[in-house]
Amino acid sequence: MPSVIPRYFVVAESSHELQNPTSAEKLLRLGRRLSLGSGSRVLDVASGRGGPAVLLAQEFGCTIEGIELRPEFHAVAVERAAAAGLSERVTFELADARHHGLPDAAFDAVLCLGASFVYGGLAGTLDVLEPAVRPGGHVVVGEPYWRRLPLPVEYEDRSEPFTTLEGTVDIVESGGLSAVSVIASSEDDWDRYETLHWSTIERWLAENRQDPNAAGIRAQHDQAKRNYLRFQRDYLGWAMLVGWKRP
Ligand SMILES: C[S@@+](CC[C@H](N)C(=O)[O-])C[C@H]1O[C@@H](n2cnc3c(N)ncnc32)[C@H](O)[C@@H]1O
Repeated sequence: MPSVIPRYFVVAESSHELQNPTSAEKLLRLGRRLSLGSGSRVLDVASGRGGPAVLLAQEFGCTIEGIELRPEFHAVAVERAAAAGLSERVTFELADARHHGLPDAAFDAVLCLGASFVYGGLAGTLDVLEPAVRPGGHVVVGEPYWRRLPLPVEYEDRSEPFTTLEGTVDIVESGGLSAVSVIASSEDDWDRYETLHWSTIERWLAENRQDPNAAGIRAQHDQAKRNYLRFQRDYLGWAMLVGWKRP
């Protein structure tokens, strides 16, 4: 994700409710696994357009604070919380999470879904997030992993710093967390997430032919689509991993 032009993602994800290959049903399962309730305080780092936060707050009555870098996504998240009548309990700060201090042991759960690159990878993410969770609380990371190895030599993403699911769980457990749940994406979750990029981009390109970024976005789109069909759909997994902070 960091190697692509930022505008591409702002356009490609402008219709996504959830900006990851997962589903509302899986997020609700996550909420049940976390035992969220009206007394729970949750932090959502890189909260995007607010889909997971609004869904969890609606279902479980918890309080959620999001941090999001992109103004376009942050604005949609704020609107969504207001439209759901949740502005008191679901708030979003427009900020760079890398430079945002977190209070110690303040949250029942801290989520970072699809954004461990913010802290230089999974291990760095856990180093930052774990102290913010109270003992007995949970850290949740939504993380890519390789479904099988070896990867084809011509697969460009093979230089990404991912590992197997087993290796990912080992990283989660390398500090003070025990992995207690894995909620993995299905092929259908991936197709829904990826092909919504396709339809959104095609519509945007048809409506914005004169945009100075149009050619770059078309090239990025063609490359991402080809990469998905050739390699990613077979080799790349994604899962929400729940780490329990041992008391
Ligand atoms: C894959 S999206 C996931 C969004 C959301 N967690 C979800 O599941 O719908 C990654 C998000 O990370 C945000 N992001 C990237 N760098 C960030 C940073 N330094 N601080 C805060 N958010 C950041 C992006 O703008 C984007 O909204």
